[in-house]
Amino acid sequence: MLKIGICGYGTVGQSLISHLEMHNDKIMSNISEEFVVALIADRSIDKKDHRKDIAITKDVMDIPSSSEIDIVIELMGGIDIPYKLITASIKNKKHVITANKALIAEHGDELFQLAEKHNVYFGFEASVAGAIPVIQTLTNNMSNEDILSITGIINGTCNYILDQMSSHDLEFTDALNEAKKLGYAEADPTFDINGMDAAHKISILASLIYKVKSPLKSTYVEGIENITSMDISFAKELGYCIKHVGITNKQNNSIQCRVHPVLVHKDNILSQVLGVMNAVLITGDKFGTSMLYGHGAGGDATASAVVSNLVEAINFSSNKDLRNKIIFKNSGSCSFDITKNNDISSPFYLRIYARDISGVMAEITNILANQNISIEAVTQHEPADLDSLIPIVMITNNVDGLSIDKSITKIESLAHVEGKVHAIRVLKTDDK
Ligand code: HSE
Repeated sequence: MLKIGICGYGTVGQSLISHLEMHNDKIMSNISEEFVVALIADRSIDKKDHRKDIAITKDVMDIPSSSEIDIVIELMGGIDIPYKLITASIKNKKHVITANKALIAEHGDELFQLAEKHNVYFGFEASVAGAIPVIQTLTNNMSNEDILSITGIINGTCNYILDQMSSHDLEFTDALNEAKKLGYAEADPTFDINGMDAAHKISILASLIYKVKSPLKSTYVEGIENITSMDISFAKELGYCIKHVGITNKQNNSIQCRVHPVLVHKDNILSQVLGVMNAVLITGDKFGTSMLYGHGAGGDATASAVVSNLVEAINFSSNKDLRNKIIFKNSGSCSFDITKNNDISSPFYLRIYARDISGVMAEITNILANQNISIEAVTQHEPADLDSLIPIVMITNNVDGLSIDKSITKIESLAHVEGKVHAIRVLKTDDK
C-alpha cells in the first residue's frame, strides 16, 4: 500500500481529494498497487474543511521527513518552501508530483537531474495549461521529431479577463474579480496579469522541447495591464480580438521565448478560445500543426492533471520504467541564444492620441515611412467634442521591434500627439 502526502490544501488540494473519492474505482483499475492519502499538510488546515480520517499537520516539512510517505504531492505555490520540500522528498527517495510552474521554470533542470539520480518519479503535468496533457504529449507522442513552434493561450485568467471585457463589456477589475471568485487566478493575481505565470509555462515548454537551460531568464514578458476596452473594440473593428499568448520557436541556433498580448485575426482558430479555456498550437516538422484545447485553470482541471501523474507515479513505483531517462535526458544541455524581442518581426497595432489638426496623420505616416514601415489598415474616430483628442489606430506591415520602438519615440515627440503610443504585436500567420 503506497502512502500519499499532500502539501497544500487550497482549491486544487480539495479538488484532488474529491476527485480521488469520486473516481476511486476507475483509478484503482489503472494502477498496479493500492494507495491511500495518509497525510495532508497545510499551515491553516485547522480552518479548512477536511476529512477526519486523514491525518493532518500544519508543518509541510513533516511530509518529506516521514518514513511512511511514498509519494509527495506539492500544491502550495511559491518557490522557496516547495523547493526545500521537494529536494528533501527526492533525496528521501519519495516520488514527487507538483503543479508549481514557478518552481519548475526556476529550478526544473536541477530537480529533473535530482529525480533521475535518485530514481524517483517526478511529475509536473499540472504546471502548464491545467487539464491539457501538453507535457505528456510533447515528451511522449511528439518527441520523435523536431518541434518547430508552440503558440499557446496558457493563462486562463488573462483569457477570461480579455474575453469578458470583449463579450460582456466588463471592466478589467470586475473581470479579474470574477476570475478570482471562480478560482482561476493565482493567490497573487499580479502573476497572471503581468504575464509571469504564462512566462513560467512557456519557458517550461521551451526547456522540454529545446533542452535549453533556464529560458525563463531571457523570456520577454508583457502582461495585459495596459489593454483597454478601447483597444479591444478597435481591434474588433479591424477584424481581430486581443489574446495573451506564449510563443516559443526555433530558427537556426536561436530560440524565441516570449509572452505578450497579440491581436489575433478572427479567422485564426485561437480567436475562438474563449473564457478560461487554454489552447496550445504545436507545429512539428512531420505531424504538421496540432492544437490541444481545454480547461487551463481551476481546481478540478488542475487536480485532474495531478491525478494522471499520480497514476503514473504509482505504476512507476512498482515497475520502474525508463520514463525519467527518456524525458529528462539532456535537460538544460543546449545553449541556444534566445532572440531579443527587438529583433523579432511582426505586424504591430498602434494606438495614438492626436489633436484633430490637419497634417497630423501625414506627420505620423512620414515617421513610419522613414523606418520603411507601411500601414496595412487604419481607423480614426471622430472626437467626442471639439477640443478632445482623436484616437488613430493602425496596423503596420511586418516590422522588427527596434524599428517600431524608434518610430514610437518620434511619434510621441510630435507636438500634436498626446501621451504614450500603445503598441501590440499582431499574431503572424506563421505563428499559426
Ligand atoms: N492562474 C493560472 C491561470 C492557473 O489563470 O492560468 C493555472 O495555472
